Amino acid sequence: MKSVISATALALLITPVLPTIVCAQSSVATSADAAFTLPALPYAANALEPAIDAETMTIHHDRHHKAYVDTLNKALNETPALKGKSLAELLASAGSLPMVVRNNAGGHWNHSFFWQSLTPPAQSGKPSAALAKAIADQWGSLDAFKAEFKKAGTGRFGSGWAWLIVGKDGKLAITSTPNQDNPLMDVAEVKGTPILGNDLWEHAYYLKYQNKRADYLDAFWQVVNWKAVSDRYAEAIKM
Ligand SMILES: [Fe+2]
Repeated sequence: MKSVISATALALLITPVLPTIVCAQSSVATSADAAFTLPALPYAANALEPAIDAETMTIHHDRHHKAYVDTLNKALNETPALKGKSLAELLASAGSLPMVVRNNAGGHWNHSFFWQSLTPPAQSGKPSAALAKAIADQWGSLDAFKAEFKKAGTGRFGSGWAWLIVGKDGKLAITSTPNQDNPLMDVAEVKGTPILGNDLWEHAYYLKYQNKRADYLDAFWQVVNWKAVSDRYAEAIKM
C-alpha cells in the first residue's frame, strides 16, 4: 500500500471511482451515499514524540479530523446538488460553497495531507537534490527557507495553515491561508500545489506548547517527512 500521497493525487480524488489511496483507510467514498471517511494515521500516535505528543495527535486525529469528516458528510447529505462531488471538485469551487462545506472539505483535505507530511524523527530525512536546489535557488539555503516558513506561521493571526507550494510558474513559494482554506481553493490569495503544510490551529500544539506557537513551528522540522515532500515536488513540477 502506498504510504505517501502526493498533493496532486490527493487533489484528484474522484469520490466514487478511486479505491484506497490514503494509507490504511480510504479518504474516498466507500458506501452508496458517497460519504468521506477518516483515514488512519500512517504511524502510531506517539511516533512523533517529542516534537508532537501522543495526546495531541490522538485528539487531533480522532476528534478534530473526525469532526471535519462527519460534518462534511452531514452537510453534503443536506445539500443534494453537492452529493457525489470529489474533494478536489469541492476545493476548486470553495468560493461558491456553503461555508460549512468549504470549512469541512478543507479541514478533511488539509488534515489528510498533514498526517502524510509527517514521520517519526528518525525517518525525517532531508530534501531530495532537486528540491534542495529549488529551495536554495529561492531562499539561499534550507535554514533561510525554514525561517521564512516560520515567519508565515507566526504571522498568521488566529487559526490557519502555512504552506510550501509549487506555483503555476513551477517555482516554490511560501504562503498561508486562514481557517481551513488551502492553496487549491479558488478563493486562495496565492494558488498552487501544496507540497508541505503545517497546521497553525491551537488544537495542533496547545497541550504541549500552550501559547508558544513559535516553539511548535521550530519542533515541526524534526518530523517533516522530506521523502513525501520531495515526491510531491517531483510530481508538481511535471504539471
Ligand atoms: Fe488541525
